[in-house]
Parts: sequence; C-alpha cells; structure tokens
Amino acid sequence: MCGIFAVVNDKHNSSAQTVLEGLKKLEYRGYDSWGIAMKPKGGQVLQVEKHIGKIGQASTSLPAGSIAIGHTRWATHGGVTDTNAHPHLDCTKQIAVLHNGIVENYQELKAKLLTQGHVFISETDTEVIAHLIEEKQKTAKIETAVFETFKELAGSNAIAVLDSKTESVIACRNGSPLVVGMGKDDYYLASDVPAFLKFTNAVHFLLDGEAVILTKTGVSLHDVETHEKKNLVTQHLDWKVEDAEKGGFPHFLLKEIMEQKKTIPKTSQINGEELKKVADKIKIHKKVVMVACGTAFYCALAAKYFFAQSGVQAQTYPAYEFLPFAKFCDKDTVFIAISQSGETADTLIAARNAKKAGAYVVAVINARGSTLERLADSTLLVGAGPEIAVVSTKAFTSQLATLYLLAHDVGGNIVTAQKNLKHLGQVLEGWLNQTLLDKVIALAKNILSHEDMYLIGKHLNYPSTLEFALKIKEASYIHAEPFAAGELKHGVISLIQKGTICFVLAGNDEVKNEVLSSAAELRARGGYIIGIAPFQATEFDTTIQTPDVGDLTLFPNVIVGQLLGYFLGVGRGTDPDKPRNLAKSVTVK
Ligand code: G6P
Repeated sequence: MCGIFAVVNDKHNSSAQTVLEGLKKLEYRGYDSWGIAMKPKGGQVLQVEKHIGKIGQASTSLPAGSIAIGHTRWATHGGVTDTNAHPHLDCTKQIAVLHNGIVENYQELKAKLLTQGHVFISETDTEVIAHLIEEKQKTAKIETAVFETFKELAGSNAIAVLDSKTESVIACRNGSPLVVGMGKDDYYLASDVPAFLKFTNAVHFLLDGEAVILTKTGVSLHDVETHEKKNLVTQHLDWKVEDAEKGGFPHFLLKEIMEQKKTIPKTSQINGEELKKVADKIKIHKKVVMVACGTAFYCALAAKYFFAQSGVQAQTYPAYEFLPFAKFCDKDTVFIAISQSGETADTLIAARNAKKAGAYVVAVINARGSTLERLADSTLLVGAGPEIAVVSTKAFTSQLATLYLLAHDVGGNIVTAQKNLKHLGQVLEGWLNQTLLDKVIALAKNILSHEDMYLIGKHLNYPSTLEFALKIKEASYIHAEPFAAGELKHGVISLIQKGTICFVLAGNDEVKNEVLSSAAELRARGGYIIGIAPFQATEFDTTIQTPDVGDLTLFPNVIVGQLLGYFLGVGRGTDPDKPRNLAKSVTVK
C-alpha cells in the first residue's frame, strides 16, 4: 500500500508544499520514503525531490508552480532508496508516474522497453509505466498513451501521471483506491480523502476501470477501456478537517482510542434500515460466514459469540484461509466481510469468491468509497470517521458494536442492544479519562523492560485477549502471546516462570471462576498476574479495573490493551502511529 496525492491549479502557486502537506496526511499508507514531482512556473522540465524516511517533519525546497504530484511509499519491488522512491520519470523527464500496487508483468514489459532503448534508473516495477507511456506517446495523445499503458499492466494498480507538456494529471484505477477532490478552481487526486479535506469535501471515488484527467480548467471522467467520457458525479462527505488532525493529542493513536466514547454509541444511531435488511436475510437462512484480516478478523471472532447468543451458528475464517471453504457458500449464505479500509486484497478475494458461489455479501466497513463497498450487496458503514493510526482501534470497536446490533436484531433484541450500547457510551465517558490513563501509564512503566508477555481469556474475552495482545505487539514490538484459558494446561503453562507477565482478561460472567482458576495456576508457577476485569480478585497481583457492562465488558477490556500498547510503545521509543514494517491496509496478496 502506498499513498498518492496530486494538485492541479494550486491556489497559492505552491503546489509542491500543498502536496507535501497532503502526503503527511497519507503517511499511514506507507512511510519508508516519499517524493514529489512538479512543473516549475515558466519551466519545461519537471523537478523532482525524493527522500527515504518519514515525511513527518520534512519540508521541500521545490520552486513555485501550480501542478505537482507526490507519493509515500511502502516498498514491494526494489529496496528503500532515494532512487526507488516515486515519482519515476521517462527518459525525456516530461512524464512523472506515481503508482500504488504491483505490476505483475513488469519483467516482460521491461525487457521489451530495454530493446527499444529506454534507460532504467530504479529497481522498481513502477518505472516501466513511465517508459511505456513515453513510447506510446510518440504516436498518440498523452491520455491515450496513459490509458493504453494502464491496460497492459497486470495486477491491481492505481497510477497517477503528471504530463509536463499538457500540464495535466491523468490517473487510472484498477483495484487500488483513488478519489478526486473538486475545489472551486483547484483540483485534487488522492488515495484517501484526508489528503485534501482541508480544501474540499466534494469528492468522486473512482471505480475500477475509470480514469480521470485533471487540468486547470476542470476534471473529466473516462472509461479506461473505451476512453469514452463518463458523467462525473460528486458527493459531499460529512467529514470535518478536525477528523484528520491530531486535535491536541501527541499521536493519532491516542486520539482515536479516546474518540471511542463517541464512536461506539454512535453505531446504534446509524444503519437502522440496512441492519434490518441484513438481519431479515439471516433470520431466513441462518447461514452466516464472516471473513476478515488482522484486527477485523478478531472482530469476527468476537461477533461469533454474539450470533451464538441469538441462536445463529456463524462460521469465521481469516480471509487468507478462506478459499478451500468457499465451495460451501451458496445462495443461502450471508457472507459478512469486515474491513476498516474495504481494500484488503485477501478480504476482497474471499468476498468475490463467496459472491461467485451465490452468497449475499455484506460489507462492514469504515472507510468510504471502497472496492468492498461496491462489490457488496449490502453495506453497513460503521461511522468511526477517518482512522489514521496504522494500529486499528476505533474501527474495531465500531465494527464490533455494529455486529452486536446485527446479531441482536436477528435475535429480536435490537432495542435492548441499542440501549446497552448507549449505556456503554455513558460509562466510557466517565471511565475513559486521565485517571485511567495514569493507571495504564504506571502499569506500562512497571512492565516496560519485559520482552515476553502471555495473556489468557475465555469465551467473549478470548477474542478480546487476541486483540489486546495484537495492540501490544503492533505498537510496542513486545512479544505478547494470547491463549484461550482452556489451552493453558495443554502446553502453554510450560512457558510460565517466576516473574513472567501474565494478563488475565475476564468479565462477571458464567466463566469467571474458571478463568480465575487458570489465573491461580499461572500464579502458582510464579507468573505476575495482571487482571483486566470489572472486579478485584486474590488471584491478581495487580488489576486495571474495567466497568462492568455485562456482555459488552470486552469493549473496555480491549480499550485497556489499546492504551497499554500505546504507552508501552511511547515508553520504548517507537512511533505508535506508524509501527515498523506495517501498513494500514494490505492491498496486495
Ligand atoms: C493490516 C493493518 C491492520 C488491519 C488489517 C486489515 O494488517 O495493519 O490494522 O486490521 O490490515 O485491514 P482492513 O482494512 O481490512 O480492516
């Protein structure tokens, strides 16, 4: 995954600076290197600046001009070097290309271009695009050259091309997201809305097979295959600029954790009609399959318990393991794909296969205008707002709250479920505050130097244990290994020695005593037991007490894990918003 951003007819004739600021908003999409290409006022040759490393504090010395494109990279082909950073130029330096995706047939294309005399500078798959356009442009208009080049690229790709001669930006989409922002006389193109939200909220999300041409007189939409013009319809998003800013918090991660007071209860006010429609389908067929990756998969695992409470046996698969089971989907299957971004390649592949088998596909997503949203028969938008930190927090809890509502709608208890979520919101208002943060900070300081941690939980608090551990791993790089409490005796207990950090996640539920017995067994082996639960217990050496909200206690339990991951990360000097090697969404297989 990479971030693309372009501006045409920049208001202040400082296009490079505008692109740099926009790229900072997209840094979550890739942060190993960045680059900008622009056409200087009065000049012909494009000027390029590229650097490895994070863009956070960067500035640019590129000159004044009204058109520029830029990129944040998450390397796939070619190491992290200035040369491999995008944009990539053709031999004449009149065409600059940005790319998100993988050109699967680039070796073949490159071999041919080499025989035609093109000189390659980088090790990337992207550079072939620039030279291919250059070649085709010898006998065609630039837009034709771009469209025809794009058609030759195998794989899921989005490209943006800056053409110096026509002073235009031409972009095409197949798989990777692109959105156009329509200002008054200024126009934007980006992988995601936050890049230009400061200038406009009037947007058009490109569909696969669509292309746009941005010039200083406007934007036109085209079909890549036929080149024909299409009607460009804009929609106005209700996102505010503040949604994509840190709002006084040191990191997006902490801001997004704290926002959950509002985002979780919000889910009970949205999706009413659509929720009912999906619930009715499930009531008829009772065959539910849920698929997702990463955090969203743990959401599926937790939702499975809510469906069970409503008498529905839901199956769950990590999307990348789904294919052998796709054949069991049919027209009676309600297939629920959960994804923050709606762009995760494995989740999309699974959803396409389920659809092909006749399933009714439901997308539970946070970002707008995604591929998953388009291919789904029904969409439940979870409304958490832009999630910028790579580590997912508020999207997870909004997805889970949405599925809690869905499961209870199926069980005929939607009104109670809505009330419970509203109550949870009120409880979080009182609990998710500085006093809690101070407790978590004190705990983080206490365990900061440990390299291994173990976690146990049971039933609803089993998936919350998985998610709690993932937050620690992602944000602090500490090895945190979660287990179902029931697994303890089957091998895991051999890992516990004097002083081993053990978290025990629990609720005031029917398995509380069993979990406490497991805690006692850990303690008897010398483990230092940290209870994350709505009660104190003699089995715990220390406790972060969470509010007792019945079945919803897993929400505050997970929130403690989010905060702990964050503060452990800060304490160990990581960048919690952009953990090493991770990307916000993985758009390649
Ligand atoms: C990546 C991210 C995770 C995320 C997963 C699925 O691995 O780092 O935070 O949970 O992708 O992303 P999705 O957008 O499909 O929820």
